[in-house]
Amino acid sequence: MSLKEKIDLNKLPCHIAIIMDGNGRWAKMRGRPRTFGHKNGVASVRDTTEAAAELGVKYMTLYAFSTENWKRPKFEIDALMHLLLQTINKETKNLNKNNIRLRTIGNLSTLPRHIYSGLMNTIENTSGNNRMTLTLALSYSSRWEIIETTKQIAQKVKDNIITLDDIEQEFYSSCLSTAGIPDPELLIRTSGEYRISNFLLWQIAYSELYFTPKLWPDFRKEDLYEAIIDFQRRERRFGKTSEQI
Ligand code: FPP
Repeated sequence: MSLKEKIDLNKLPCHIAIIMDGNGRWAKMRGRPRTFGHKNGVASVRDTTEAAAELGVKYMTLYAFSTENWKRPKFEIDALMHLLLQTINKETKNLNKNNIRLRTIGNLSTLPRHIYSGLMNTIENTSGNNRMTLTLALSYSSRWEIIETTKQIAQKVKDNIITLDDIEQEFYSSCLSTAGIPDPELLIRTSGEYRISNFLLWQIAYSELYFTPKLWPDFRKEDLYEAIIDFQRRERRFGKTSEQI
């Protein structure tokens, strides 16, 4: 029985979020510059996206560039931005062929103008697709998102559009940049690091966390299958007892 066949398609996570990590170390192990790791990470993005869509996962969110990543050397930032643009331009046809819609979350106003335009083109071009939504977190950090959301809500209270009692969990979720996307049921982080690194802090309140030592450029379909099988073995209690479930 293959790993894929072991997956119970009736118990698939609806939304999988991934912290893609280990590109730099993967390159260093080969005596190559960090950017070589990022380039090779693109094949993992393609493979994982295809695997998720084939299985029937409805949402996948990838942490592609954090707010903190702006602190990296300029040449690495430039290379990452170039790679991003090149990849989305090249992959738009493939996204449409696979009926995948592209979305982004993050502070997009900080992206170089040509990267922003390229992203908007692909987002527009794929907006009619409905098999899976692929969200790229770009210039994203969860604390930034929470503060931005809180400011917007505070303004609405100030303008008497809503009252304090309107601020409930569901309402708050609907004001975040992930509005309309269900919370991830499974969060994967590669490269053997056990951290969340400011990613989707509100949204992962009840997510199952899966950590793998695999470095991102080595992550393939089979690794996603393993993570999903592990997820399906877990009992999700949401604060209840085993007997109540
Ligand atoms: C983390 O590895 C990875 C990133 C900061 C960037 C991820 C980008 C890609 C996989 C390429 C393009 C992406 C898309 C969506 C087309 P790291 O550099 O932090 O690795 P290290 O921890 O080993 O140094």
